[in-house]
Amino acid sequence: MPIVVFGRILDALGCCIGYRKCRTSSFLPTSELMPFSHQHLISARDLTADDILNIFERSTDYLEFLRSSDRKRNDLNGVSVVLAFFENSTRTRVSFELAAKRLSAEVTAFQAAASSVAKGETLLDTVLNIETMKVDILIMRHHHSGAHEFLTARQGRVRSSIVNAGDGQHEHPTQGLLDAFTLYQKFGSPTTMLKGMKYCLVGDILHSRVARSNIPIFQALGAEVAVCGPGTLMPNLDAFGVRIFSHIDEAVEWANALNVLRIQHERMQQGLIPTIREFVQQFAVKRHHIAQKPDLAILHPGPINRGIELEAEVADAAQSLILSQVERGVAVRMAVLALLAEARKRNHS
Ligand code: NCD
Repeated sequence: MPIVVFGRILDALGCCIGYRKCRTSSFLPTSELMPFSHQHLISARDLTADDILNIFERSTDYLEFLRSSDRKRNDLNGVSVVLAFFENSTRTRVSFELAAKRLSAEVTAFQAAASSVAKGETLLDTVLNIETMKVDILIMRHHHSGAHEFLTARQGRVRSSIVNAGDGQHEHPTQGLLDAFTLYQKFGSPTTMLKGMKYCLVGDILHSRVARSNIPIFQALGAEVAVCGPGTLMPNLDAFGVRIFSHIDEAVEWANALNVLRIQHERMQQGLIPTIREFVQQFAVKRHHIAQKPDLAILHPGPINRGIELEAEVADAAQSLILSQVERGVAVRMAVLALLAEARKRNHS
């Protein structure tokens, strides 16, 4: 039975027996979930299933709002947000900026290349200086894995809420959330979450912070997770409890959804794959794969390299959710910012 049908049946049963009451939107009332109480969003591993459902419930409302003719709400009125990107970004930066602006936050973008970090100031000093100008939320992308954890490990010194927009090869939690939200809206429900879904990350897992955030989020929602890629682009995954495939054909046969990742040449120390041609043969998603399995969902966090990790036609096919991910990304980031701001208010009142 397709998992979406299974999910709807369980949901209907849940409503009938009063296991969990449904609202008209079929989402759980927030009161039945543990409130979102985090100061920061650094790692997807810190999020419980309730945290994720809280974010999804709010994202659903925001997505509806984004699709209406209205463009502004006041949820973050009086909240000051700084964007600090020490590494290139297109989607994530624009998405966070729009998310904050559409909720009426006061937004300042910080030009990392032109900052005093380039003059030798430490990251912590930079952050403490920005904070003292009454900043509530600092959204940061940094090339060093663990940069955010380093800042927040200094209990009591960093007072703003730090949001990780990607750190080195480590994590990218809002990307994991928006990937999961895209599939949750297609296949999931509050009661079944993503239970029964078979989800496979494909390609360069070694260098991917997206993979490291996706795995715990999908597992928290009950999905079975696998990875598929060359052994040389595979980190040690013993602690993750994921299945490993070494050919795209096996992954296609097993999965309900594939999240296809880019080969990150800029992070490679030496040639970890023999040639791009051989990588394409063994790991790229091709037209015949989606023709053979028309209900297979295709995701990609972007930027895509057409003809390498997937054939160009696959990116544009009906099964491709790539642009849906980007659209939902704004709603998910609005939800994250709003929930962090509300938690700050509760903690400071
Ligand atoms: C990813 C990133 O920068 O981590 N993209 C994104 O944020 N949408 C993935 C990548 O660079 O390949």
